[in-house]
Amino acid sequence: MIRIFSWIGSCAGKASKTLRYSNRLAEAVQKKAEGIGEAVSYEYMTGDMLRLDYCRSCNNCFMKGKCPLDSQDDMGILKQKLLDCDILFIGSPVYMGGMSAITKNVIDRIAYWSHRFELTGKVGAVFATTSASYGSETADQLAFLARMNGVVVAHTGYATLNAGSPNLYLDEVMLPLLDAAAERLLDAWRHPDAYIDPMQEKAFTGRNYLNRRARAFHNLINTDPPDETLVCESRHIGEYPSFAAMTEAYRKAGGWAESVTGGNDE
Ligand SMILES: Cc1cc2nc3c(=O)[nH]c(=O)nc-3n(C[C@H](O)[C@H](O)[C@H](O)COP(=O)(O)O)c2cc1C
Repeated sequence: MIRIFSWIGSCAGKASKTLRYSNRLAEAVQKKAEGIGEAVSYEYMTGDMLRLDYCRSCNNCFMKGKCPLDSQDDMGILKQKLLDCDILFIGSPVYMGGMSAITKNVIDRIAYWSHRFELTGKVGAVFATTSASYGSETADQLAFLARMNGVVVAHTGYATLNAGSPNLYLDEVMLPLLDAAAERLLDAWRHPDAYIDPMQEKAFTGRNYLNRRARAFHNLINTDPPDETLVCESRHIGEYPSFAAMTEAYRKAGGWAESVTGGNDE
């Protein structure tokens, strides 16, 4: 069973055009997967379904591995969904030239995941809907942010829904594109290495350097390094020759072993 989870950063609920894009793409994946004998489940959340506070810049997540807000709002629910899927959709409407505030808020709330490649091994589709402009720029930024978390992005798309009827546009104009996107997503599911972006290898090298430096410094002063370094060490991230090799190992193992060391909410 391939599990799709879609986070839609719009509070328009079922009326969200970005949700419609997501639903159409999920349908296309389901149809294609049927053809190769794979079952696909699909679940989504839109912004209005959760109560999410804004990051307070306390840095507890980077240092201790926990966000104090998670026990006070619904972020824990969303985090679990993000972790439990195989294919992750992230969709945002374009608001004033970029992603919506709620989309960015979620990305900020999981910023520390990018330091430990938390979403490694997942295949991603990112997309934006817009009435006129900035669709591709917004989708590109979503792709960058997903990749920073380890996601192998196989579809970066946008829909300019200015034809008066979003459904008509999605059905008549977008459907062939979404069909091709579904093909790529399933291909990436089988061969993730072919969809790794060069920046992911660079981020991997950079993170390993920072972890080695943190380890050396904390050894010198005889203290524990931050949680993010401990987690990377317990995941043996510094021992893989490349991001691609780490992704392959993650996929073979079926996920990260439990390695979260933090425990202090304060
Ligand atoms: C607050 C707000 C700001 C918007 N800013 C832009 C914009 O800068 N450029 C644009 O082309 N469309 C803009 N739009 C239109 C939305 O991007 C478009 O309607 C989108 O498909 C809405 O998606 P949703 O229904 O999933 O929320 C804006 C809409 C809203 C509500």
